[in-house]
Amino acid sequence: MKGVILAGGSGTRLHPLTRITNKHLLPLYDRPMVTYAVEALVQAGIDELMLVTGGTHAGEFFRLLGNGHEYGIERLFYGYQEQAGGIADALGLAQRFVGDDKVCVMLADNVFGSSLEPIVQHFEQQPKGGRIVLSHVEEDEHLRHLGVASMDGDRVVQIVEKPLAPQSKYAVTGVYFYDPQVWEVLPTLEPSGRGELEITDVNNWYVDSGQMEADVAEGFWGDAGESIEAYYTVNDFVRKTRSAS
Ligand code: G1P
Repeated sequence: MKGVILAGGSGTRLHPLTRITNKHLLPLYDRPMVTYAVEALVQAGIDELMLVTGGTHAGEFFRLLGNGHEYGIERLFYGYQEQAGGIADALGLAQRFVGDDKVCVMLADNVFGSSLEPIVQHFEQQPKGGRIVLSHVEEDEHLRHLGVASMDGDRVVQIVEKPLAPQSKYAVTGVYFYDPQVWEVLPTLEPSGRGELEITDVNNWYVDSGQMEADVAEGFWGDAGESIEAYYTVNDFVRKTRSAS
């Protein structure tokens, strides 16, 4: 399985910090944010990675990650997104890298308290389709900034992006697994109200075709780009866990 780390976007919710750097280079405790996603995938056994970024700070990712060997990456590729066209648009740049392999996509502002390894293994064993990772989030105020999954038992029946009235407490985290059908879905997408190709539309294609599985993440999950408050919640979590280890 290949890994794709998405580190583009304009990070408007963290302005003015993100006027002078890429959001995924901001510190989380003692390291730039993107390194947590790198570490999560490598720890889960995915060591062929492509990092997609854009904007004016792409060179800093080279300086930070280099050829990736220091981080346990076997082969590291880079992609450059010319315009901030959304997560699904960025993913399109990884098509040739992934080829007909399976892919795990991770948004570089996501931090998980527990290992992704069991979830990666579930997808290794899944014959086809897609897989998402959910997290139980209690507050509607957070859910309104995220993708939210409507459930029927443990099956996902629909995902709504940034719902005004969240249908459940299950947020869709920024880790997604796809089979090669994803490359046929991407060209069919239309830009959303925020002018982006939404990963939620890709996920709903898999849901509608009855091929979407889901895991619920155990322990902490945070999207450090959700808001400045979320950024500090993730920082506090990382500082507490890292300084104790
Ligand atoms: C994106 C997805 C959203 C998901 C979130 C997780 O939101 O669109 O469904 O819940 O990542 O981090 P964005 O950060 O682009 O607003």
